[in-house]
Amino acid sequence: MAIQRAKGATVEDVDGNLYIDFFGGAGVMNVGHSNPAVVQAVIKQIGELSHTLDFPTPGRKLLIETLSAVLPEKLSRLSFGGPTGSDAVESAVKLAKYNTKRQGIVAFEGSYHGMTVGALSLTSGRHFREPFLPLLPEVHFVPYAYCYRCPFNKKPDSCSLECAEYLSHVLEDPHSGVGKPAAVIVETIQGEGGSIVPPVQFIPKVRQICDKHEVLMIADEIQSGFCRTGKMFAFEHTNTIPDVVTMSKALGGIGLPVSGIAYQEKLNVMPAGQHIGTFRGNVAAFVAGAAALDFMLSSKLADHALNLGERMLLSLRELERNSEIVGDVRGKGLMLGIEFVKDKATKEPAPEWARSVRTGCHRRGLLIEIGGHYNNVARFLPPLVLTDELAQKGLAIFMDTVKEVECSR
Ligand SMILES: Cc1ncc(COP(=O)(O)O)c(C=O)c1O
Repeated sequence: MAIQRAKGATVEDVDGNLYIDFFGGAGVMNVGHSNPAVVQAVIKQIGELSHTLDFPTPGRKLLIETLSAVLPEKLSRLSFGGPTGSDAVESAVKLAKYNTKRQGIVAFEGSYHGMTVGALSLTSGRHFREPFLPLLPEVHFVPYAYCYRCPFNKKPDSCSLECAEYLSHVLEDPHSGVGKPAAVIVETIQGEGGSIVPPVQFIPKVRQICDKHEVLMIADEIQSGFCRTGKMFAFEHTNTIPDVVTMSKALGGIGLPVSGIAYQEKLNVMPAGQHIGTFRGNVAAFVAGAAALDFMLSSKLADHALNLGERMLLSLRELERNSEIVGDVRGKGLMLGIEFVKDKATKEPAPEWARSVRTGCHRRGLLIEIGGHYNNVARFLPPLVLTDELAQKGLAIFMDTVKEVECSR
């Protein structure tokens, strides 16, 4: 499809077809396409100043102040990066290496941290990695709390967080083959891996293990941040404060490119100039980010995302009960996943049906994404301004399409 324009949670193509947007620019458009308050702030800014490398500007100061007010006090240091989330991941890794004088990073199975060589090294998908091997050395992957497909064969109600215990074992055992890493990087809620919400004790346990081994904890909030899951940042659901938080996507308000990290004061030892870049001073993106944050707060977008997401999950759970090809539905706020399987007992993944559902939804006027460890998860990441009415319409399209795919198997 070729896109002509977009507004709120709708997208129009060049042929005049309208779509309900459950994709939201892959989690960028939290405040809605062409959000008027943000657009106005950007137009005013670019008439005055738009590019300044790393120089101080009122726009940078405004975003620092606005962002600091919504971050935990402990995450008092901010550094803005280049246009992509991958760059925020690169700078978090550099910060961790610089501080600990160690090499290694532990990441999780199912992770997606970006496509630049450093970020790709922390991304688990074989099809992304294999053409570019070898990547960064000393990166190790451990199981995420993916309860639907628990590698330890546990059920959520009877498990003892064996996945987190395994991380503990890897760091503890001198014969695990893994040297003491600089950091553990974790998506607080796994995004591209299939909208996987870990049990509530998982992230605090990871924090505890990192503390015990004096390893830094980097929370990648690039997709889960900025009200998406019903809190400003997903780590806030867990009473945990990471050492470093990566941010991008919705940070640029209406899709203007900017990324950044927030980190604890104790880590602020890297001399100026160690992570520079031509586009780190995108003033239009800074004011867009500040205006977007104001909008999120004044319109209580986090609460709306949480409540609407819960209502949508209720309908999706009913779909799961009635469908033979929906194995699991999950999510938090407006970060939802529907996992397709060939057989609910064997859980054999059905990526082709996920693809058929995506195509069918597009034909009927609904945009969705697919992801997941096996590429078999339909993912909803709508703009958080999605109304109840549009959500119901979109869900109806999705359910009809699932039924159609199910019948045509
Ligand atoms: C959790 C997470 N980290 C990092 C990235 C990389 O961001 P970008 O595509 O802007 O480089 C993404 C992108 O989807 C992401 O979801």
